[in-house]
Amino acid sequence: MTKVAVITGASSGLGQEFFHQLKDRENIEEFWVIARRKERLEALAEETDKPVVVLPLDLTCAEDILKLKVKLAETKPQIFLLVNAAGMGRLGNISETSLEDTDRMIQLNCQALADVTQLCLPYMEKGSQILEIASIAAFQPIPHLGIYAAAKSFVESYAKCLHHELLFSGIHVTCVCPYWIRDTEFIPIARQETRKYFRHPFLSSQKKSVVRLSLWASRCNLWVVTPGIICSLQRILAKFVPSCLTTPFLEGISRI
Ligand SMILES: NC(=O)c1ccc[n+]([C@@H]2O[C@H](COP(=O)([O-])OP(=O)(O)OC[C@H]3O[C@@H](n4cnc5c(N)ncnc54)[C@H](OP(=O)(O)O)[C@@H]3O)[C@@H](O)[C@H]2O)c1
Repeated sequence: MTKVAVITGASSGLGQEFFHQLKDRENIEEFWVIARRKERLEALAEETDKPVVVLPLDLTCAEDILKLKVKLAETKPQIFLLVNAAGMGRLGNISETSLEDTDRMIQLNCQALADVTQLCLPYMEKGSQILEIASIAAFQPIPHLGIYAAAKSFVESYAKCLHHELLFSGIHVTCVCPYWIRDTEFIPIARQETRKYFRHPFLSSQKKSVVRLSLWASRCNLWVVTPGIICSLQRILAKFVPSCLTTPFLEGISRI
């Protein structure tokens, strides 16, 4: 049976980079790429001779989740790899964030990720890999990025639990927690027109190294990977320093 890689958020940033780093892998024979921008997904299909199934879906929309469910049930693919990279954030105080953005952050980062994972699981077997993209924001509350950070805490907790539950099935589950990545669309979308917070994401990472380290961690079945120095330090810091102290510290950092 054809071995399939399913990548959400494949039209840009990390998702697109996962596609680029995986497209020549012999053990992947077909790609399913998911995002809203169809033309970007179709452009990926031009880059490889392998079949690429373009699924232009809005993962915050229940009807589109249902379309994925139906497609899986009809095709019954053997899913070798799932990357849940679709995600978004908005900078700003919780009280200033529109309800629409709040809902979108929770629906896309949490609900859609859990739905896609659960829908794909019946088509996975020993040796399959799941990468859930969270963030350094998962480790503690972050002022002016509050809803996003809370959503990414959900992802971390969810992925760790799934890793534990699937340990003896041979399915790898890795939660990826990067620091700011400069060469994706995430930061401009998070900022919109506001330049009030996190104006200088110092020492930000690049998508190539984040994806390379994430794929390595998935092969090793690490339950969490922090692909970079800052996120690795922050992970340790958040374990030992209570969030009543890290929160004002991050408030200070956000104003620089
Ligand atoms: N960049 C960073 O600084 C950073 C740091 C830590 C963690 N992360 C996480 O990394 C992941 C990837 O982000 P990125 O940096 O690659 O950002 P990005 O370049 O903005 O990519 C986000 C992807 O999500 C897709 N998407 C957005 N809304 C969607 C929807 N409603 N339905 C389906 N797909 C949707 C976008 O495609 P369409 O617009 O075509 O739908 C795009 O492909 C996210 O989970 C993000 O939270 C990013």
